[in-house]
Formats: sequence, C-alpha cells, structure tokens
Amino acid sequence: MQATLTALVAKAQTDLAALKTRPEFEAAKARLVGPNGELTLLMKQMGAVPKEDRPALGKLINETKGRLQGLLDSALRSIAARELQAQLGPEVDPTLPSPDAGPGTYHPLTLVREEMCRILRKVGFIVADGPEVESEYYCFDALNTPADHPARDAQDTFYFPETARFGNVSKKTPEEKYLLRTHTSSVQIRTMLKGPPPIRIVSPGRTYRRDTTDATHSANFHQLECLCVDKNVTVRDLKALLDYIFASLLGRETKTRFRPHYFSYTEPSFEVDLSAKHLPKVRKEWIEIGGCGMVDPVVFAGVGYDPEVWSGYAFGMGLERLAMLLYGIDDIRHFYQNDLRFLKQFA
Ligand code: DAH
Repeated sequence: MQATLTALVAKAQTDLAALKTRPEFEAAKARLVGPNGELTLLMKQMGAVPKEDRPALGKLINETKGRLQGLLDSALRSIAARELQAQLGPEVDPTLPSPDAGPGTYHPLTLVREEMCRILRKVGFIVADGPEVESEYYCFDALNTPADHPARDAQDTFYFPETARFGNVSKKTPEEKYLLRTHTSSVQIRTMLKGPPPIRIVSPGRTYRRDTTDATHSANFHQLECLCVDKNVTVRDLKALLDYIFASLLGRETKTRFRPHYFSYTEPSFEVDLSAKHLPKVRKEWIEIGGCGMVDPVVFAGVGYDPEVWSGYAFGMGLERLAMLLYGIDDIRHFYQNDLRFLKQFA
C-alpha cells in the first residue's frame, strides 16, 4: 500500500506540472481526489486491511492527501500566473526610451503663426502676449464696447462664476467679471496701458466663443492681432501692411480688398477680403479673412494717449482660416483631433 501511495504522489507531481489550463486542472483534480478518484479508491480499500495496520495506514493516507493538496495548489497557482501573463503580454521595461518616438513636428497652426510673426518682425513688429482669461474691461469696455452694446451678443462667450479668482489677471474694477477672451484685441489695451507710443505689436493666441462646432466653427480657435500706433499713420499704411503680409504668406498673386464695416474700436473700420485663386481648393474669388481699421480716438483717450497727436491702425484675423487657405484644409475640426495621419502631412 505504501508503495502505491508513493507512486501516486510521484505520478501526480509530473502530471500536475504539465497542466496548462483550468479545465485540464479540474479533470486532473477529479482523477486524483474526486469521489471516484485514485486516492478515494485506495481509501475504500481500508476495510480489507488488518485492524492493527489501520492507524499507520490512515496516517499515511492523510499525509498523501496533504501532499496531493499541496501539489494541486501549486499547479493552480502556476495556471493563474500563466493566465495573467497572457493578459499582460510580453514583458516591457518602462524605463527604456520609446522605440518609436521619432523627432516631433510642428502643428499646422504653429507653422502659420510662426510664419506670420516672422513676416511681421521683418517690418518692425514685436510679439506681445496677453492672458486668455480676461476681464470685461480689457475684452470689451476699453475697446469701446460697453455692456449694452449689440457687439457683445455677437461675441457671446464663457464667463467665470463671480467667485473665480485669477491672481495674475488684473481687473480694472473689483466688480468686473472674468471671461475667456473672445478676441486678441484685448492685448491692444494691455499693451497701450504699459507705456507710450510708438507701438508695433503682433499678438497671436487662443480665443473663445460660445459657438457650436461645425466644419468652420469652433468654440476655441486662434487669432492674430496687430496694432501700430505712431504719428501720421493712415489707412494707406494699413492696406500696404496687409498687402505685404498676404503676399509674403500666400504668394505674390494674392490680392486684398477692404469692405466698409463696423467695429466699435476702429473708425473707419473694414473687413478684409483675400483673393488667392492660385491656392489649392480655393474656388471663391473673395474670402473674408479678418477685420481692421484706424484706432478710434475714444480708445486712445481711454488708455491716456492724446488722439490729436497719435494715430494708429489695428487688425485681427483667424489663424485657422489662414492655415485652411494655405494648406487646402476643408474642416476646422482637423486641427484639434490630433489624428497623426493629418498632422504628419505637415512634417
Ligand atoms: N476683434 C475682431 C474680431 O474678433 C477683429 C478685429 C476687427 C480686430 C477690427 C481689430 C480690428 O484689431 O481693428 O472679430
């Protein structure tokens, strides 16, 4: 009997070590210790053993049972470990550099922004920055757009709760509300309040409107603003600068035209249209690209500049619209979806 039990354990050891799956394990377990298992059958033979041998044999059977249980437990542990390994996949060393991290490339909006800044730097403009969270004063009031002005509806935006605090964004009055800037024109005011003219700034940046997203609208987009303040600045200077910018960015064939318009911070004001039929996918003769005008004397007075001495022009345009024109992109949403198939085309 003892030899049989030892042989049973030895065989179980090799059999269980070869198991790979749970069903195999369950079958092996039933074969060993199930109601009709090999150990159970041996135990049933106890009746035939002489009475005086039974205690020793009982001890032996119990030991065998314990050893089999130990073997079953370890077989189950190694099956569970194997299952986990299969779920985790091959081992990785997270401390190694990523094998596919090739050199990065610029986003198309960054490319256009940088090119515009380069073009403007050549003619004396410097880059000025302003906060994306603005106060009503810088975004509207100082630009001659008081609270009851209809232009505020056209630029409906996201306001912060009155309890919101932005320590690094100065307000004019404590009761003013914070909002996400609807245009980069607020940088005009922040720049002028910093010091006297002459001023030539270009200010690109992110802007926000309460717009529903579609192929040409996004609640979050980018603008580029320019402000020039000096003595004897005229509409001719403004037109000449716009002609120069667009010829540089889009090619010499590009034409610009002004259409009379209304902006509360410029007088006269114009909308700027572009004609650039040489560009891919451009079918319309004239494409609206931005707004501009001569800085309104009211705005100058508000920042403490003497309107009798100083004159200036300003304009603002959408960077997405420019990039779409330049690269023949037909949907503004491509810019924000981070689809590498799109982005790699600008590498
Ligand atoms: N801020 C205007 C907009 O977002 C664009 C604009 C118009 C900017 C006239 C200007 C300007 O600087 O003079 O629609």
